[in-house]
Amino acid sequence: MKKLILSLLALSLTAPTLQAGELHKVMGKREGRTNHSFMYEEKDCKTCHQGAPKGPASEAACIECHGSYDEVAASSADKTPNPHDAPHWGADVPCTVCHSEHQPAKVLCNDCHQFAFPNFSK
Ligand code: HEC
Ligand code: HEC
Ligand code: HEC
Ligand code: HEC
Repeated sequence: MKKLILSLLALSLTAPTLQAGELHKVMGKREGRTNHSFMYEEKDCKTCHQGAPKGPASEAACIECHGSYDEVAASSADKTPNPHDAPHWGADVPCTVCHSEHQPAKVLCNDCHQFAFPNFSK
């Protein structure tokens, strides 16, 4: 038992644990988000890239799964400030202004502010 615990401990120290939403290699050199792994496992690029396979990702896809601007804003209404409902623009800011799928992401707000958003996946 002790041996098992020790080897599990060693494993958890050596294997990097992926955080939810983190970037990781999904296909060849391409990176994607851990939370979207189920699409990469199915080699399903078209759910997000709804037009031509190499065309841009569609925001309609994000909204189909995550809800409308207003629903996303409501789901984070307990945050201060609410990144999905800024005093400047309200809720209608395209998702990919802040979130990105295959490359590092950056919160638009922090171009000017210094808000801590602990759940944001860079
Ligand atoms: C087929 C459904 C589906 C589509 C399409 C989809 N997502 Fe997701 N997404 C999920 C699921 C399921 C999770 C994990 C549970 C959760 O956080 O809602 C997730 C997690 C996330 C998260 C939280 C973790 C992270 O990566 O930071 C963000 C942000 C996100 N998605 C943004 C997007 C954006 C932006 C798009 C459009 C480019 C998109 N999603 C398209 C289903 C989807
Ligand atoms: C969860 C939604 C989502 C899935 C799944 C997804 N993409 Fe994307 N893709 C995006 C978004 C959003 C962008 C815009 C740039 C970014 O955010 O990285 C993009 C950009 C791209 C680009 C433009 C240039 C680049 O590399 O950034 C290519 C090419 C691409 N994706 C290919 C793919 C392939 C191939 C797959 C399947 C293995 C795939 N994508 C799966 C959302 C997605
Ligand atoms: C281009 C710069 C810029 C960007 C980007 C920006 N802000 Fe601001 N924000 C300001 C300025 C300037 C003020 C007014 C001065 C002050 O009170 O700090 C302000 C004030 C605020 C305030 C306090 C005053 C109020 O009206 O309630 C909040 C909350 C806020 N911003 C949230 C956000 C959020 C959330 C985002 C991202 C979605 C964001 N801001 C993006 C420049 C910006
Ligand atoms: C102005 C920047 C910005 C825009 C635009 C934006 N988000 Fe976010 N989103 C954030 C930030 C910042 C967080 C993390 C908040 C925190 O730390 O709790 C977040 C968190 C999330 C999460 C994870 C919620 C959680 O805490 O698990 C999802 C899912 C999500 N956003 C989806 C979307 C979708 C879908 C859209 C478009 C309809 C969108 N976001 C538009 C900044 C943005």
